[in-house]
Amino acid sequence: MAGLSDASARRLMASYGAAYTVSEMVSAKALCYGDKKTAALLRGGGGGAPFGIQLFGSEPEIMAQGAVLALKYRPDFIDINMGCPAPKITGGGAGSALMRDPALCGRLVEAVAKAVDLPVTVKMRKGWDDSAVTCVETARRCEAAGAAAIALHGRTREQMYTPPIDPGCIAAVKAAVSVPVIGNGDVTSAAEALALLEQTGCDAVMIGRGALGSPWLFAEVKAALAGEPLPPRPGLRQRMAVMCRQLYSMCEEKGEEAAMRQARTQAPYYMKGLRGAAQLRRAACGLTVYRDAEALARLALELNGG
Ligand SMILES: Cc1cc2nc3c(=O)[nH]c(=O)nc-3n(C[C@H](O)[C@H](O)[C@H](O)COP(=O)(O)O)c2cc1C
Repeated sequence: MAGLSDASARRLMASYGAAYTVSEMVSAKALCYGDKKTAALLRGGGGGAPFGIQLFGSEPEIMAQGAVLALKYRPDFIDINMGCPAPKITGGGAGSALMRDPALCGRLVEAVAKAVDLPVTVKMRKGWDDSAVTCVETARRCEAAGAAAIALHGRTREQMYTPPIDPGCIAAVKAAVSVPVIGNGDVTSAAEALALLEQTGCDAVMIGRGALGSPWLFAEVKAALAGEPLPPRPGLRQRMAVMCRQLYSMCEEKGEEAAMRQARTQAPYYMKGLRGAAQLRRAACGLTVYRDAEALARLALELNGG
């Protein structure tokens, strides 16, 4: 996830049992231009779990070149973004704009699959809007072009991130292709993961926002899938310790200043449901040096009797 699934987050999610992780999306074109900030997003691997690099773009040749350049960062697979709804991405014909052109999606997969000797996966949406629900056709084209797996966020671009997902479109894609289908959208608990698998017949579940500030969700889903009792939820003290560990790792990864700027987005996820929300939010917005993160953890404990 852009701005969120950096190497520290990927390592943390892998440590709690995520079967694989994916980089923040990066522009294939920017990689081709040798953009240093783009390349920095790809460092750090997957922390022991398989790791995919996600590229966005709309030109097969550029995507293929970008994929070859991405090999330097030792991914286990290359993922193509066909889901991002942000106008600055769709305006260039990439992300979810691709859902309006299933044939082009097929050509992108084909070009990347020819260029690299790694599995190529795609991450798509249900379609562009209700009048252009193209996930089944797009998935078929991608499979025919060599995609090794298809992750599907069950909303159209027009729906962005809010209305409930449509499990029917995930089931329809699962029925249409024989490669693994990964269902995505709104999974925040082990029960919801099992329900999505059950409702759609999909092969795996992808978790995004639900794991922010709750990386143990992966351990819970894993236990539920194995039919085992769920591990106990960490108490507040442990939750704050995990937050500090993640933010410290970010400082090591990209330097304190850049890390703490991004920590202002990451830390509030650890504050979900706590008393003193307004005070905690203010403290999270002011994170500047790592010591502030420790002070934030102490404040959360003080305000919540920890
Ligand atoms: C802030 C933010 C950044 C995201 N960045 C990406 C991205 O870079 N690549 C991608 O495939 N999806 C991205 N997504 C979409 C998520 O991967 C996921 O498809 C969507 O949030 C629905 O799943 P969830 O309810 O489990 O979060 C992003 C979502 C959010 C909210």
